[in-house]
Amino acid sequence: MEVIIQPTADAAAELVTALIDQALRAKPDLVLGLATGRTMEAVYARLVRRHREQGLSFKRCRTFNLDEYVGLPVGDPASYRSYMNHNLFAHVDIPFAHTHLPDGMAADLAAACDEYERCISKCGGIDFQLLGIGNDGHIGFNEPLSALQSRTREKALTPATVKQNSPLFADPSRMPRRALTMGIGTILDARRCVMLVTGAGKASVLAQAVEGPITAMISASALQLHPHCTVVVDEAATADLKATDYYRWIFENEPEWAPFRAKPKN
Ligand code: GLP
Repeated sequence: MEVIIQPTADAAAELVTALIDQALRAKPDLVLGLATGRTMEAVYARLVRRHREQGLSFKRCRTFNLDEYVGLPVGDPASYRSYMNHNLFAHVDIPFAHTHLPDGMAADLAAACDEYERCISKCGGIDFQLLGIGNDGHIGFNEPLSALQSRTREKALTPATVKQNSPLFADPSRMPRRALTMGIGTILDARRCVMLVTGAGKASVLAQAVEGPITAMISASALQLHPHCTVVVDEAATADLKATDYYRWIFENEPEWAPFRAKPKN
């Protein structure tokens, strides 16, 4: 795992966008794992801009979202399908049939989860998985005590998650209490993981996920097991991290990051 610190939330979103851009141009038929949440809106807005202004194409890309609420019609404005259409899919050249989210309206939810896993495999597995983190340490909707080898399945949401996400519903009491989510094992199978964490409110959970022990209590800590995981954060989120000098040194000195460093002004 590596942690990359950027001065602001905008700079962190810009770097994550640049990583997706790089991956997509290198492999136009990229299988891209996507996340929702407020943090990701800045990334999707930038991807849309790059599509419009810099010819970034999603035509051959296939996407798999991490999760979807159970029992929420896809047309509901608070569904993750609506979120993705609104923030990304409707504004780029991705064919609708290439975009996938778990089917939270399926009559047989367990079968829908198995089908989701099969579909990911049929596409060759996820090349690049974008992730955010919940206040309780979840990735996707892998709430505390999610098995570290779990696959796509139905999960009950914690009160912390309900508190975090219910303001996104016109009537917060209507937020579903269950969701379908890729498992931690599904996420760890992705060839590359990139987690974006911004804001002082995430400082404590970020430190637990990155520098704490691997524990099912903080499902994001399982990313420490991943062979190629990058965590991109802003200054505000670093408040509780211990090894920030090392993380800064990596970004300033490792050749991999040279194309992403600000060019010196003449
Ligand atoms: C939801 C999603 C997570 C996401 C989280 C972060 O809970 N299921 O995948 O990481 O939101 O949300 P925000 O960016 O709004 O803090």
